[in-house]
Amino acid sequence: MILVTGATGHVGGELVRRLVAAGEPVRAMTRRPAEARLPEGVEAVYGDADDPASLDAAFACTEGAFLMSAQGVGTAPGPTHDLALAEAAARAGLRRLVKLSVLDGGAGADVIARWHAQAEAAVTDPSPGFAWTLLRPGRFMSNALQWAGQLRAGDEVSTPFADRPAASIDPADLAEVAALALTTDDHAGATYELSGPQSLTPADELAILGEALGRDLRLRPVPDDAARTGMAHYGFPPEVVDAIMQRTLESDRGAEVLPTVEKALGRRPRTFAQWAREHAGAFTD
Ligand SMILES: NC(=O)c1ccc[n+]([C@@H]2O[C@H](COP(=O)([O-])OP(=O)(O)OC[C@H]3O[C@@H](n4cnc5c(N)ncnc54)[C@H](OP(=O)(O)O)[C@@H]3O)[C@@H](O)[C@H]2O)c1
Repeated sequence: MILVTGATGHVGGELVRRLVAAGEPVRAMTRRPAEARLPEGVEAVYGDADDPASLDAAFACTEGAFLMSAQGVGTAPGPTHDLALAEAAARAGLRRLVKLSVLDGGAGADVIARWHAQAEAAVTDPSPGFAWTLLRPGRFMSNALQWAGQLRAGDEVSTPFADRPAASIDPADLAEVAALALTTDDHAGATYELSGPQSLTPADELAILGEALGRDLRLRPVPDDAARTGMAHYGFPPEVVDAIMQRTLESDRGAEVLPTVEKALGRRPRTFAQWAREHAGAFTD
């Protein structure tokens, strides 16, 4: 049995489908099992990383687990969700664990790096008794879904950092790498930095999405000061806002096309155009 946390999310949802297609027994963790739309045969289990006592039942009798956390950096003194999930995994005595992290993980000195260093160490140190694999992706293609509300209302999208490039990755590719690491021994102890196949700005992605939708979409750039104010308005701690601004504006890290997906899967990573065609309905329904 493989436990997928974040099973209703972009990566976890794709992973559940891939594991089921490969014939693996899958348990899907969610805070709302009754509402989760899961493939036939998948066992839905309640689990809330905010309620560590709920996690033992979710991890019971599993051979492997995919861990992700939706806890925002800086919203707690440390990554308590990652720690609770890693501790539950260790108690369960499972064999293989894949953790979804972020590009560069704990490298660096800012609040984001400190958070992810702790989150990754919870899985890798000290000798946890299971084989672990860390996935460190850059920007997700699915972040474009943030435009869906604006695109249902019209053809214009306001977006920050419109000219900052990233080699965004399809969550489906991440899920396929995770599925391999959960079902074979070839990825034990590996830390994978992952990207998609092209370096694109949000403006480029919007143009490609417009082609998929057959619409002429316009981008209205959000000035950097307004982006900063917006993040503060949404409750991002000031230290986190500073780190995001610095990482986004002063570094091209994340724009580089990395070979990892192709090496692991033996094929090119999926393009933003493919992602856009497959998710076109999300922008119109
Ligand atoms: N977006 C990016 O560009 C990017 C880049 C690099 C790394 N990442 C990492 O990717 C992860 C996000 O993955 P995603 O996009 O697949 O997620 P997502 O689609 O945003 O879904 C969030 C998932 O988290 C679950 N969740 C929320 N609160 C929870 C809690 N208290 N306990 C247990 N589960 C909880 C939700 O499950 P229920 O609501 O069903 O309980 C849902 O399945 C984050 O860790 C992020 O740091 C993202």
